[in-house]
Amino acid sequence: MRLDGQRVLVMGGTSGIGLATARAATEAGAAVVVVGRNPLRLADALSSLPRERSEGRLVDATDRAALDRLAAVMGPIDHLVLSLATGGGAGAFRTLDLAALRKVVEGKAWAFLETLQAFLANLRPDGSVTFVTAATARAAFPGTVGIAFNNGALDAVVAPLAVELAPLRVNAVCPGVIETPIFAAWPEAERERFFARARAAPLGRPGKPEEVARAILALLSNPYVTGVRLEVDGGLRFTAPRDRDP
Ligand SMILES: NC(=O)c1ccc[n+]([C@@H]2O[C@H](COP(=O)([O-])OP(=O)(O)OC[C@H]3O[C@@H](n4cnc5c(N)ncnc54)[C@H](OP(=O)(O)O)[C@@H]3O)[C@@H](O)[C@H]2O)c1
Repeated sequence: MRLDGQRVLVMGGTSGIGLATARAATEAGAAVVVVGRNPLRLADALSSLPRERSEGRLVDATDRAALDRLAAVMGPIDHLVLSLATGGGAGAFRTLDLAALRKVVEGKAWAFLETLQAFLANLRPDGSVTFVTAATARAAFPGTVGIAFNNGALDAVVAPLAVELAPLRVNAVCPGVIETPIFAAWPEAERERFFARARAAPLGRPGKPEEVARAILALLSNPYVTGVRLEVDGGLRFTAPRDRDP
């Protein structure tokens, strides 16, 4: 899974799955550009990446003008990985705050589309794009309608994008419950519900960001894979209905 001499732009590359992907890409020989909004997170991320093959940018992916400005100075890239989210969207549908969900969708599904469109001209014609979506979107757990809405929209566009943008390859990885800083802002009861589901799944534990990063590297480095949605969820989607809310 070598990426020697290639350049990878990781949106949301300053934490969690994105940062693990940036690290794995540099270990595979690539140069990376990591993007986030928080300067302290960016500085921390860059301090953990090899200096000679990493750079960082502060851009809010919900701001199309800022994305276009970055694209104008970015130069060519071989691969684009979209691994950002503001989090949120979990909760029972009857009482789900739909105004808040609209913001959550703007912060992920909509931001992914804006980012991809903004960087299309920078991408190598036969390079790749990888969306980080969510296995939960297809697992049918109670309290995940908002998450399914946000990530299911992205899952749905992988195939038509793969056809329309070929030979550019378009894939998604669909993580289950992965131990990353995204859960820090969650109410403890909600977080524990998700982690309990991961413990009830066939592999019996939450995943690690590095495990998702390995799947992303496989998609980046294999020139014959496109239109794939690859679950990295420890079998979460196979848990029996009675186990879904232990
Ligand atoms: N962890 C899980 O269990 C899990 C499960 C399924 C799917 N996912 C998905 O995996 C992706 C990565 O999640 P994670 O768990 O690695 O989260 P994380 O550790 O919180 O990382 C999120 C990254 O996105 C950046 N970001 C957020 N909003 C942004 C924006 N508007 N513009 C630019 N950068 C932005 C963050 O940096 P700043 O805050 O500095 O902007 C950070 O670098 C997300 O799409 C998430 O929905 C995660």
